[in-house]
This record gives sequence, C-alpha cells and structure tokens, in this order.
Amino acid sequence: MQTQSAVIASADRRFDFIRNNTMTRPVPLCPEIAIRVADEAFPLWEKTEDDLGEMGLPPPFWAFAWAGGQALARYVLDHRETVRGKVVLDLGAGSGLVAIAAMMAGASHVTAADPDPWAGAAIGLNAALNGVSLTAVADDLLDQSGAGFETVLVGDLFYEKPIAERVLGFLVRCSASGATVLIGDPGRSYLPKDRLEKITDYGVPTTRALEDAEIKQTAVWRLAGTP
Ligand SMILES: C[S@@+](CC[C@H](N)C(=O)[O-])C[C@H]1O[C@@H](n2cnc3c(N)ncnc32)[C@H](O)[C@@H]1O
Repeated sequence: MQTQSAVIASADRRFDFIRNNTMTRPVPLCPEIAIRVADEAFPLWEKTEDDLGEMGLPPPFWAFAWAGGQALARYVLDHRETVRGKVVLDLGAGSGLVAIAAMMAGASHVTAADPDPWAGAAIGLNAALNGVSLTAVADDLLDQSGAGFETVLVGDLFYEKPIAERVLGFLVRCSASGATVLIGDPGRSYLPKDRLEKITDYGVPTTRALEDAEIKQTAVWRLAGTP
C-alpha cells in the first residue's frame, strides 16, 4: 500500500509530466474552454510509461477532447437548464471537459469520475485553467447505487463491450433515483441506441490521430424514461 506522501509525490509527477508533454488549446466545438491536449496518443502513452516507470497504463484518453465529450459539453453550455443549480456527475471524465462545461453552465457541484489517476491529474489542471472548482474522483463508480446526482453526463464511454454494459446498468440506476442522464456519443460500437432518445447532433471537429474523419457526426442522447 502507498503511503500518503508517496501518493502526493506521484500526483505531483503526473502534474509536471502533463504540463511538459501537452499544450493548452481551445476545444474546437467549445472554444470558451481550453484544456491540455496532445497531438498523438501512442508516443505520449509510451513516454508516460518510459519517463515515470508506470507500466501497463491505459491509453492517455485524458489528453484529448473526444467527439462525444465535445458534443455534450456544447449542449450543456447552450442548454444551461440541464445543469443549473444541480448536483452533477461527469462519468468517464477523461480531461474533465464535460465537467468543466457543467460548472461554467452553473451546476452547484460537479463530480468528475474516472478510474484512471492520470485523468484525475488532468482534470485538476484543466479545471484550474478554466477557473472552475470541481471534485475529481479516481474511482470506478459503476457498481454503486447511482443515487445522489440530479444530472449525469457521459461523454464517449461506449467503446468497449464490458464497460458499456456496466455503464448502462449504472445509468439505469441513476435514472431510477431521479437523475436526468445525457450522453454524447458519435455512434461507438456498444452505444445502446435502443435505450436512448436522440436530442440533437453536431459535426464535431476532431483529429485523424483519433478518428476516421476530421468532422465526426456526434449526437446528444437522453436515456429513455429519464426525467
Ligand atoms: C474516450 S474517453 C472520454 C473522455 C471524456 N468524457 C471526453 O469525452 O473527452 C473514455 C474515458 O472513460 C474512462 N473510463 C474507463 N473505464 C471507466 C469506468 N469504469 N468508469 C468511468 N470511466 C471509465 C477512461 O479512463 C477514459 O478517460
């Protein structure tokens, strides 16, 4: 088990690494938000493992504004009533883009949850860059009850079957507890479209480093039956 000081030291090293290996850029579909991003995923992934000796890390999802997150952040910024004065969860927060948008749109409190501790570091840096305060949680919440949130936001989390199934179960429980559940997704393989209602869609500028197109058509969905 890591001591408290070892945990703080690894968090500090992550902050330094992110500052040294990413650039601050406006998010294409939400230029009012700037986050730390990389140009390429694989070189950054290798460097993270090589420089810090942390082997077996997940890919650096936290270093990109994914199409689903961009669309959902844009929707929240333009439809503030979805989060204004509410207790919000950004599930699978990555860079924290959607969580930041929710705070900027007037949420009373936002929890940005992502089990990757590197995402936690990126969320902290990006929240500070945009002058918002939120709670980053480096935990997997998917087996929890889902109670306690009024709006649950999910950007681009349906790309792998096992996660997608667990995410859907969690979102159904959130909805049963009274939360509005909104999802931004460009049609990833495991998006449960039969359980969703499309609200709107956007052409999201993205990068060939991540996607098969420079503009990715991306929808915002509501979990059917959600308040
Ligand atoms: C494609 S990225 C999307 C990030 C961000 N929402 C966006 O749209 O830019 C997916 C994120 O889900 C996170 N993730 C993976 N498993 C998860 C889980 N069990 N619970 C919550 N997040 C998870 C990953 O660490 C990653 O940051």
